[in-house]
Order: sequence, then structure tokens, then C-alpha cells
Amino acid sequence: MTPTPPRFCPHYPPPQAERPSAWRMFFSKRRSWLDSLYARSYEMKMGEVHLPGVDLYMVNEPALVRRVMSDEAAAFPKHAMLGDALRPLLGDSIFTTNGAVWERQRALMNPSFEAARVRHVFGRMQEAARAMHARLRQLPDGAGHDVEVEMTHVAADIILRTILSQPLDSSAARQIFDAFARYQALAPRIMMPAFFGLRWLRPWWQVRRSRHAAAEIRGLLAELIRPRFEAARHGRATEEGDILATLLQVRDASTGRGFDFDELVDQVAMLFLAGHETSASALSWSLHLLAHAPDVQERLHTEARDLFDPAGDDPSAIKDLTLARNVFREALRLFPPVGFLARESAHGCTLRDKRVPAGASVVVSPWLIQRHRALWARPDEFDPDRYDADAEADAPPPAGAALGDSPSARESLRRAYLPFGMGPRVCIGAAFAQQEAALILATLARSFRFEPVPGHVPQPVGRLTIRADNGIRLRVFQREGGAG
Ligand code: HEM
Repeated sequence: MTPTPPRFCPHYPPPQAERPSAWRMFFSKRRSWLDSLYARSYEMKMGEVHLPGVDLYMVNEPALVRRVMSDEAAAFPKHAMLGDALRPLLGDSIFTTNGAVWERQRALMNPSFEAARVRHVFGRMQEAARAMHARLRQLPDGAGHDVEVEMTHVAADIILRTILSQPLDSSAARQIFDAFARYQALAPRIMMPAFFGLRWLRPWWQVRRSRHAAAEIRGLLAELIRPRFEAARHGRATEEGDILATLLQVRDASTGRGFDFDELVDQVAMLFLAGHETSASALSWSLHLLAHAPDVQERLHTEARDLFDPAGDDPSAIKDLTLARNVFREALRLFPPVGFLARESAHGCTLRDKRVPAGASVVVSPWLIQRHRALWARPDEFDPDRYDADAEADAPPPAGAALGDSPSARESLRRAYLPFGMGPRVCIGAAFAQQEAALILATLARSFRFEPVPGHVPQPVGRLTIRADNGIRLRVFQREGGAG
């Protein structure tokens, strides 16, 4: 039997050998929360950090994760820090609300993200993919290029076209995009102190700049939404067929009321943020991984050449792209854009043998769980084939037995994987994101080849999402016959 060649293990901040002090942990978290992790973080079932006024519990064990995220989700609402930090931009949007307010919002949003609706916007995703293709064709062959910039562009273009029928080259869309980049650069500096109960450590000038950027984004969105909101209120249907059109039509089954204007601006701002920042991060890391695994990249090219129809405007164009889907799955495992999910213990509880006080922070980290030494075989390797049915069946029980309830290999694979969250708060846009990713990866793999830029090693940092501090620079080559 020929031995399998070593697979690519992407660089990430080497965990510290020993647990740092709580204060050092806090200060390193301000730059990037990945810097505060230490070797045992990747092995333990549960950890805790205490600072004056702050009790934080990190939960890794699948059975506990399921309790917090799913079985007892109401006892672990979203952390108030999220609402505080994001309210200037998102108001009271579905991402941060809890209880009855969230329930109503989720019921009103669900129809916009049903499978049929997501399939319906495929043609718009295709338009954005073609625009991306045309931009990349303009690059000098083999030039080094920061693919994060391009992936952010195409993901924002997709979200603006599918939600608001605005391509990113329209001036309103461009202004939203620019103001958002300013907001995003400031967000981690503002969120982390709040998370540790140290709001006074937030630099006031940064808070002010971030509020200005948020107000500008909301003002621009309001201008786009207002005429359509008024038209819908007066019973005049508009022709757009986008996600906003569905949001304008939905009504609460018990009260007959839909979203009011401010609520709509909140939800659209949130969809813009949640819907493009995450996909941009995951697609950029996918390309980094592919550039370092030329064999996988060639297989993906063959799949895209043989099975993907770039002219097809319905989702059947991507239905057979198994490897594209698996590459994306594996990129989401190694670089989950939402690297930690922050909850609060509403009433106090016991987790394992620990008494967790009411108001304590309970954090579930897809980053840690998906690289957990006891839950995954070869946790740091890029191996998109691990999701094949046969590979799953063969996977060694990833020490699942040691973690509690001895799940089957397949079951532990499923439960130790939560890039889209889990339980009632699971990502509403997961199907949207997967459709988008298969399309973008196939479009790219069909026409282009990516190689690492020698000497450039992207440095992952945990901020709003997991991004590269120094960008993801790759050499982009055009393939023969890759004109479209
Ligand atoms: C690769 C892309 C994406 C990833 C990895 C991702 C990840 C997540 C995660 C982990 C959550 C749960 C957060 C928590 O439990 O604290 C979430 C929630 C959410 N996501 Fe996504 N997301 C992605 C794309 C999208 C897209 C494309 C949209 C919409 C167009 C979207 C909209 C939302 C919304 C509205 C929520 C809040 C749901 C609720 O609380 O009821 N996401 N996402």
C-alpha cells in the first residue's frame, strides 16, 4: 500500500505551553482571541477564567455543547455583550435578541431563507460570480493578489444583489461597503472589553468613530428600503423578487403584523453583516488551503470543468459539486468564521461538576471543538475527503468514548462540527452560504489556478470573524480555455 503523502497543515498561532494569567489572557484577546489559547484549550472538556466581576466558562465536550446550544438553549441566551457592541449598527436584530422578541423575528425571517427562496436567488449569485470572474481576468497572469479583498467584494456583491437588488458597483452599495470596512476595523476593540465587563477600557474616540460608521450604514440602507417599504404599505407590490421583497410581505400568524420600518433596517443591516463577512472569511481560507494542496485543487478543477455549467442560472448548475462542498466544509472546520459563540447562564446551573453562577459567560468555540485533539483524527490537517461516506465509517472513534457518551464515529463527527452553530439559533443563512460557496469555488477552480506567494504566511486573527492579519496573498494564474 502506498503511504498517503503528508497533508497540508495551515499555520495558526501556536498555543502557549502553559495557561496565561487571566489578565494576560484579556490583553492578548484584545488583539485576537486566538492568542489567548494554550495547549490544554485543545484537549480539555471544559475550562474557566475568572476576573473581577467576570466568570467565563468554556465548554468543549459535545454533550455539554448540545445542552447549552440546543437542549436547554432558553437557559443560555445570547450574551448581552453582543447586543451592546452591535446595537449601534444592528439595532435589535435577530442576531442579538432573545426570548419572545427573537422568536417573533425568527418566525418572520424564516420564509426568506427557505430552500425554495434560496434557490430562487441563485441567478443573482451567478451575476456576482461572473462579475468576479471578469475582474480576475484583468489581473496580470501569475500576479500576487490578496484574495481576501476579492472574496469580500464578491460576498458583499452577492448579499447586496440578493437582498436589495443592488450590485456593488452602484454608488449606494459602494458607500455601504466602505463604511462597513471602517466599522469592522474598530469592532473587536470595542467588543472584547465589554465581554470582560470592562466597558471603561473602550477608547472613547474609537467608540465614536464606530458609531458614526454604523449611523452612516443605517442611513444608506434606510434610503434604499424606504421607498419599497412605503410601496408595500400602500399595497403596491414591487418587482424585485429579492429577499427584501419577502421580508416586506411576511406577517405574524397570530397578530397579522409584519416588520415595522426600523425593524426592517435592523434586520437588513444584520443580514448584510452576517451574510457577507462570514462567507468572505470562509472563501478566502478555502483558497489558501487549495493553493497549498495542488492535488485537491486539480481534482476540483476537473470536477468544475466536467460538472459545472457557468452559464446555468438555476442551482442545478452546482448540484453535483461534491468536492467543492467538501472543500468548503473542511475550510469551515479549520477556520470557522464565527470562532466562538457567547452565551450567558440565565439562572445559574451546574456544568460537569462546576457550579456556574447566574450571569456567568458560557462560551462554545467552534474553533476549539473542530480542532479538538480527542474529537478529530489529524485535527490540523486539511483533508476534504474526510467527509466521504466511507472515510466517515472508517474514522477511528475520535476518542469520543473518552468524552462521555461513546458516540459512533459518524455521530461524533457530526456533533463536533458546528460552524453554523446548533439548536434554535442555528444560522438561518447556512443553505444560502453553501450554495454561494459551491458556486464561487467552482467558478474559480474552472478558470484559475492559485499558488502560494513564497514567504507569505497568512496569520489568522480572531476578530469579528477569523481573518488573516496580513491578508491572504496568492498568485493567480489563468487556465487555458477558462474564459467563462
Ligand atoms: C460561511 C458563512 C456563514 C457562517 C460560518 C455563519 C455562521 C453563523 C453562526 C455560527 C451563527 C450562530 C451564532 C450563535 O449561535 O451565536 C449564525 C447565525 C446567523 N446567521 Fe450565519 N453564517 C454564515 C452565513 C450567513 C448568511 C449568508 C446569512 C444571511 C444571508 C446569515 C445569517 C445569520 C443570521 C440571521 C443568524 C442569527 C440566527 C438567529 O439567531 O436566529 N449567516 N451564523
